[in-house]
Amino acid sequence: MIKNGSTKVRNKYGFSRLFVFKSLILPRFTRFAAYLMRIFQEVGPLKNYLNHQRSQGKSIGLVPTMGALHMGHMALLKEAKHQNDLVICSIYVNPIQFNNPSDFKKYPRDFDDDYEILRSWDCDGAFVPNDKDIYPNPPSIQLSFGNFENQMEATHRPGHFNGVGLVVIKLLNLLKPNTAYFGQKDWQQYIIIRQLIKELFMEVEVKWVSTQREPTGLAVSSRNKRLSKVQKDRANIFY
Ligand code: PAF
Repeated sequence: MIKNGSTKVRNKYGFSRLFVFKSLILPRFTRFAAYLMRIFQEVGPLKNYLNHQRSQGKSIGLVPTMGALHMGHMALLKEAKHQNDLVICSIYVNPIQFNNPSDFKKYPRDFDDDYEILRSWDCDGAFVPNDKDIYPNPPSIQLSFGNFENQMEATHRPGHFNGVGLVVIKLLNLLKPNTAYFGQKDWQQYIIIRQLIKELFMEVEVKWVSTQREPTGLAVSSRNKRLSKVQKDRANIFY
């Protein structure tokens, strides 16, 4: 190190420490920080982190998922990244929205892949709670959506929308995001969530992101992983 006339400390090549820090160390550190996306398994540390970010005026986007992330989730993440300072993706396979235990058991779960996807999208944090965090006690509340329960998906999945509604309220109340992102693919789910938020005066904006499709037109879905080639070809009929 040499000292020149000014007070700046320079190395033998004449670069100031500030220059070396800003141009060489900081970008590497930022990349490293992105590489180490935050993973929260408990509610307490996540709430502390989000309170701190909120106190700095940062807006928070939440992408609630059940994992097995795909192009559809990526579209949600992309929109959330554009519109918020900070994006959290929750990954929780919510047991009470499955009316069929075998569907719950077989639901695809691959956290390593999910983590890579979230990291590549510069997601700021993943919330991966366990059942005790979300349901410290068995839920004593039942949601009912009137006539909506006698239509479309609800008729085939008794109790499903009660489970979806409860977990979404819990996630929104715990994380208090400014905006939450849901896919258009689950249309009935979206309508129910919108209704809950309106009726319960919840202070969150909901964004509805368009369905992502495979080249055949089939809507991309985590459950497609469970379809054989023949079943997948047959499923195209929905499009
Ligand atoms: O659409 C989903 O992935 C789930 O129903 C949701 C909204 C994350 C609730 O578990």
